[in-house]
Amino acid sequence: MDDTAGGHGGGRRAGRWAALAGLALLWLLALPFVDYSVRFGLDGLPGPAARDTHLDRAGAALTNALMFAHMLTGAALTVLAPVQVLPVLRRRWPGAHRWLGRAIVALAGVTAVAGLAFIALRGTVGGAMMDVAFAGYGACLLVAAVQAPRFARARDVARHRAWALRLFVLAMGSFLYRLHYALWYITTGGAASRPDFTGAFDIVTMWAFYVPYLLALEVWLRRRS
Ligand code: HEM
Repeated sequence: MDDTAGGHGGGRRAGRWAALAGLALLWLLALPFVDYSVRFGLDGLPGPAARDTHLDRAGAALTNALMFAHMLTGAALTVLAPVQVLPVLRRRWPGAHRWLGRAIVALAGVTAVAGLAFIALRGTVGGAMMDVAFAGYGACLLVAAVQAPRFARARDVARHRAWALRLFVLAMGSFLYRLHYALWYITTGGAASRPDFTGAFDIVTMWAFYVPYLLALEVWLRRRS
């Protein structure tokens, strides 16, 4: 989000308010998913597996724990990432911005590594195609979590901001994935979506919750620079 204009012009000010409202809306919409993720994680973490499901498999304590821990760190990441991109936090409380940044980087790292380990050890419920798409998502998140603090330490503000925005978009990806499904089921009743994730909609959505958003961000970053 832009905070460099210094309030020049009503258009820019209106744009900033619109971005702030969009961010607040995104945060509020993500809360039910955050709640779901926390409850799911807390329910499963104590183990041993009570139900024998794909995510909670009897006799596979380590992989189960990775999955449930990833739900908790992922939930914290989803709730904190929109706060970190608030320009006011950066401007008025740079110390808080730095500490929150460190927390977000750690949460993103743990969430991504646990998700990637789960894919390597057990695989996703949707099979090879979903494994590749979700592994791509985890890899992108991990790269952004390395690059954003790296450029902050190097005092390269432009690159830091670009990577921090990529990290933000990716942090919201897991929520966007569920949002796509919710909207699709509401509008079409679940056309081209199958329980084993082999429907055309499932296959497109495996990628569409992060790739188009990253591309849109790249276009926006290039236009601004
Ligand atoms: C960004 C925050 C994230 C949150 C809040 C989150 C949350 C969840 C939740 C609640 C589930 C349980 C299944 C469901 O309800 O759909 C899940 C499953 C999963 N997540 Fe995440 N996740 C996040 C990020 C990631 C990342 C970055 C990866 C990358 C590797 C990942 C990989 C997976 C995998 C592989 C599964 C199991 C899918 C299956 O086979 O059913 N997640 N996640």
